[in-house]
Amino acid sequence: MNTHWKSIFILSGAGLSAESGLGTFRDRDGVWARFRPEELATPEAFQRDPVRVLEFYDARRRNGLGACPHSGHIALADLQRAWANAGGCVTLCTQNVDGLLEAAGAPEVIHMHGELAKAWCTRCDMRSPWVDDMPLGARCPACDRAGGVRPDIVWFGEMPYHMDLIEERLEAADLFVSIGTSGAVYPAAGFVSAAARRGIATLEINLEPSEGERRFDQLLLGKASEAVPAWVEGMMAGL
Ligand code: OAD
Repeated sequence: MNTHWKSIFILSGAGLSAESGLGTFRDRDGVWARFRPEELATPEAFQRDPVRVLEFYDARRRNGLGACPHSGHIALADLQRAWANAGGCVTLCTQNVDGLLEAAGAPEVIHMHGELAKAWCTRCDMRSPWVDDMPLGARCPACDRAGGVRPDIVWFGEMPYHMDLIEERLEAADLFVSIGTSGAVYPAAGFVSAAARRGIATLEINLEPSEGERRFDQLLLGKASEAVPAWVEGMMAGL
């Protein structure tokens, strides 16, 4: 076991999955350069024009379910399993709504912004697997009622999921790593400051320095498919 870092907290964003063909949000050709988030990713937008919002997430779900994990996802899943076997802990906390870390074999992924392949029924509050398109008026697989089913995605203005667990893992971590996220969306963007206040090591892996770059101790520039496996290989060598 790497004696310095028994408990590693890894936050990932769209840059981790970009090379699997899922695109990012804030890059030049990103999702929010082509669409307005307030028209597609808020509870108000869903109330105003549910069909448009559902169709937007149908397209993203089809894209996400057709994608395959790359070497970066696989390296992170390997790291999580290796650390657990050695008595340590790697927390994989992602803002991504795809399932590529799980597809790569990661035993535990914290999806703070929800999951494309799930529906949330606001009538019975159950989350159910959902792989098909989601028509307006779809019935909830759990309670069989129509009218409450929506994508299980955290929209702007909503509280990210699992914040208690995330805070607990961040408190216990002795290394914080951020991969492929611009640091533009809170609360995730604030995790590095929380880690730095506790005095733990912080590392950013990104194609280019993010908005929060100056708050990291170390920066590794490169594509997730190359920089992440290279970093993981170094970590594994210390096991
Ligand atoms: P962004 O699109 O804001 O940032 C993507 C980051 O990935 C940028 O810093 C890029 O430099 C980096 N990047 C791009 N390609 C990369 C590659 N191949 N390898 C490594 N890094 C790469 O995406 P997020 O930070 O994930 O929320 O966005 C955060 C949240 O904003 C998302 O979860 C989403 C969005 O609105 C919701 O939908 C609720």
